[in-house]
Amino acid sequence: MQQPVRIAPSILSADFARLGEEVRAIDEAGADWIHVDVMDGHFVPNLTIGPAVVKALRPHSAKTFDVHLMISPVDTFLGAFAEAGADIITVHPEAGPHLHRTVQQIKSLGKKAGVSLNPATPAKMLDYVLEELDLVLVMSVNPGFGGQSFIDSQLRKIEAIRKSIDKSGKPIDLEVDGGIDAETAKRAVDAGADVLVAGTATFRGGSGQYAENIRRLRGQ
Ligand code: DX5
Ligand code: ZN
Repeated sequence: MQQPVRIAPSILSADFARLGEEVRAIDEAGADWIHVDVMDGHFVPNLTIGPAVVKALRPHSAKTFDVHLMISPVDTFLGAFAEAGADIITVHPEAGPHLHRTVQQIKSLGKKAGVSLNPATPAKMLDYVLEELDLVLVMSVNPGFGGQSFIDSQLRKIEAIRKSIDKSGKPIDLEVDGGIDAETAKRAVDAGADVLVAGTATFRGGSGQYAENIRRLRGQ
C-alpha cells in the first residue's frame, strides 16, 4: 500500500562546510528522513563522504538516516555505516555479486535494507529479493551528481514496482531519487512513489526557504 509521502532531503546539495547545521535546519523545516549519498569515485564518477561523517552528523537529528551507498564492493562497508548510525542502508545490485547475501547482511546488522535501481536497470532485478526488502529506490537520474534532469521513463518502472509491492502485501517503501521538484514529485507520487529524495529543490534559497521548499514538494 502506498503510504503518505515522506520527504528525504539529500544533503549532497547542502553546504558541506556547515553540514551539522544544515541537517538541523532541514530537520526543523519538516524533513521526514535525512538522505545521505555515499559515492566512491569508482561505482559512480564522484566522491562524497564516508562513515565518519555519518557518525558526526548523527547527534544533529533523531530522524531516519537514509544512507544510499553508491560504492563497490559494498559488503565490507556495511558494518561501518550501521555503526555510524544509518537506519536504512540501500545498495545497488551491480555493487556486488550476491545481492541476496548483501541484503541479509544489512538486516543482520539490525538495519532496514533497500535496493536501488539505476535508470537502465530493470525492475526484474527485484524478482527474487523484493519480499526481503524494506525499501526500493528508483533512480530517476544516473547516480553521481545532484541537479540533473528527471528521466521520464522511470515513471513506468515506479508503476510496475508499485504493483509488485502491493501484490506482496509487505510494507515496502518506494522511493524515487533524482531531479525531483514540485512538478516531478507529483508525477512520481501519481505513479506510486511514497518517499521523495530531493537535493537541489530542498536546499535552494538558503535555510529561510527550506520549510517552504519541503511543503512545495509535498504538493502543499
Ligand atoms: C544522485 C543522488 C541524489 C541526488 C539528488 O546520485 O543519489 O540523491 O543528490 O539530487 P537532486 O535532487 O538535485 O537531483
Ligand atoms: Zn541518493
